[in-house]
Amino acid sequence: MNFETLLFEIENGIAIITVNRPEKLNALNKDVFTDLDDAISEVLNNEQIKSALITGAGSKAFVAGADISEFGGLNLAEAMALSKRGQDIFLKIENSPKPIVAAVNGFALGGGCELAMACHFRLCSDNAKFGQPEVNLGLIPGYGGTQRLTQLVGKGKSMELQMTGSLIDATEAFRLGLVNHVTTSENLIQKTKEILLLIQTKAPLAVGKIIECVNISVISDSTFTNGKTGYEKEIEAFGECFGTEDMKEGTTAFLEKRKAVFVGR
Ligand code: COA
Repeated sequence: MNFETLLFEIENGIAIITVNRPEKLNALNKDVFTDLDDAISEVLNNEQIKSALITGAGSKAFVAGADISEFGGLNLAEAMALSKRGQDIFLKIENSPKPIVAAVNGFALGGGCELAMACHFRLCSDNAKFGQPEVNLGLIPGYGGTQRLTQLVGKGKSMELQMTGSLIDATEAFRLGLVNHVTTSENLIQKTKEILLLIQTKAPLAVGKIIECVNISVISDSTFTNGKTGYEKEIEAFGECFGTEDMKEGTTAFLEKRKAVFVGR
């Protein structure tokens, strides 16, 4: 697929999505949102795609935030619509049944940190920097950051990071649980691909149900929970796994002491 602001390629079932505005440190403008929305739809709908990796072009930034140059003159309704647009796209990422992982290769600030946090988990390079510096602009995070940062690092640290606008480095992000792995810039994409390829050897329906159940434990938006608690959703999803070919294959393969071959049904 061709996008104006993204690079999009498929390699071994992994969609590699690269936000491609390096001259603006990959800041999220309207066009990036349109392209990202379409790219995630492609991930969801294209059967060749089993998982996705999101990163930023260049060596300096993953995404340095929402494009501040588009903020001028927005009224209340327009600003709320922008927030809703960002939240909707990031919820689409978070609720994808196919794994979507962020490979954070530099600054992940504001909307960039929020994009990374919407992914199912994150790896970063050792030069990465994370933060929600919106308060420096007289703003707050608007693409789900107040919620997801709190879920990931806890209330106290989330409050401090948002109220001070301070940036943290990769070591601190790892210590706080914001990222799962820190590696060199050179190794970041390869390491992320290795994890996705490992996940791709597992039963896809089970992976999708894990995403759904884990998300319900933290998502407060009832559109995505159908009024169910995470425990109720887990019971339902666990039961549904028993109707799949992959569950029969997985359990049979274990008993036959061979490696399971999953088909996604
Ligand atoms: N929105 C729009 N443009 C941005 C941007 C953003 N969020 N972040 C960076 N840019 C642009 C800069 O304006 C600059 O463009 P120019 O060359 O046309 O002047 C270019 O990207 C390079 O950024 P620059 O600030 O010169 O790089 P730096 O190395 O001096 O600083 C940062 C890097 C990330 C510390 C700095 O760019 C920054 O603070 N960005 C904004 C972060 C932020 O507040 N994000 C939250 C937004 S809600």
